[in-house]
Amino acid sequence: MTTSDKSANANAAVSARHAHVIGWGMAVPETAMTNDDLSAFVDTSDDWIYARTGIKQRFIANEGESTATLAYLAAQQALEVADILPTDLDLVVVATSTAENIFPSTASLVQDWLNAHEAGAFDLSAACSGFVYAMNMAADSIRAGSIDSALVIGAETMSRILDWQDRSTCILFGDGAGAVVLQANETPGGVLSSVLRSDGAGGDLLAIPSVGSIDANQSRAGANGYKLYKMYMAGGEVFKFATRVVSESVEQACKLADINVEDINLVIPHQANLRILQAAARKLGIDSDKFMSNVERYGNTSAASIPIALCEAIEERRIQNKDHIALVGFGGGLTWASMVIRWGIPKPSEQHGSLLNRQRRHVQYRIAKWRSRSRRWRRRVNSRVRDLQS
Ligand code: ACO
Repeated sequence: MTTSDKSANANAAVSARHAHVIGWGMAVPETAMTNDDLSAFVDTSDDWIYARTGIKQRFIANEGESTATLAYLAAQQALEVADILPTDLDLVVVATSTAENIFPSTASLVQDWLNAHEAGAFDLSAACSGFVYAMNMAADSIRAGSIDSALVIGAETMSRILDWQDRSTCILFGDGAGAVVLQANETPGGVLSSVLRSDGAGGDLLAIPSVGSIDANQSRAGANGYKLYKMYMAGGEVFKFATRVVSESVEQACKLADINVEDINLVIPHQANLRILQAAARKLGIDSDKFMSNVERYGNTSAASIPIALCEAIEERRIQNKDHIALVGFGGGLTWASMVIRWGIPKPSEQHGSLLNRQRRHVQYRIAKWRSRSRRWRRRVNSRVRDLQS
């Protein structure tokens, strides 16, 4: 079966339900680090970084900020825009390479803090492509009818896994989170197509070895340049890979959505490097103005970069109803992914952001804290009682 046959079958099976973006939000740490700040402790300069990457500054998490706290803030904003309650959510997915823990998942923490107690939760690992992968999983679940509403988050604290002595990587990355609410609706549109790809043969080009890694054996670590929990990247190779796959996969996603590349109103790519975006726009034959870029202010926030750029594009009124937008991610794995969305936001209520719902959400956030504490407390008391009885 060809890819377009598969897509046609999938579309026929799920034509009555469409997955629409109805809410969005973003959060970045309080502290910005400029290129000049960086050059105070790494052998680099504002001129070099800006000319090679387009980056001017990035945000770096302080001690009280983490992947989960940033994800939580972005999620609250997305629920506010969607004007739904946390208890309406069926699924919370966090795409991240810098999870709060190996387990429990960052998504489970966010689910608990939001009081989204009707939702399943899991983290998804596909590096900088993770947000598009997660959107695809959630949209497919909505279209298949297994869920109605999903919170999809991309969240990272890249600053925690950077080798701050490696000037070829530490200048590139920043911390942040972005979130969207996807909801089922009969109005045609929303997520139209997705293309997910991986080439594990390129896994050695970009990696963060962790506990399960063969490189956890210290006699091997260091031999190949890897350090546990630190990012390693062959920048030049990744650059060539990225410029190739961005254009190819956007073309494939357009074909599956049955539109031409010229019909795309805005491409929202993973924000890795301005030069990659410019090269990809040239390859696609579309104006670079149609490529959203905010890498200058945030650096590369990995899985968070696409939802953060989406939020800013909406804020800047660069997306209108019925527009076609393309999301495209690429990164470690190697992985890459594209998605075409027809924008058009059937709101749950015309009274968007209504005061009553806002108050109900705030009550639920308070309940969430109380609920978790009381559950832990009850568990401890029960286990003490059992100990005393035995
Ligand atoms: N400051 C000053 N000089 C530097 C720096 C720096 N921060 N970093 C490298 N240099 C030097 C190098 O040592 C080299 O010097 P030499 O010529 O004397 O050997 C020179 O600058 C050129 O280095 P290159 O690596 O060839 O520079 P390039 O133009 O390729 O830019 C960069 C490097 C910015 C990393 C680029 O390759 C890149 O952006 N790659 C893609 C990264 C990316 O997109 N990753 C996305 C996925 S991330 C994810 O999935 C988690």
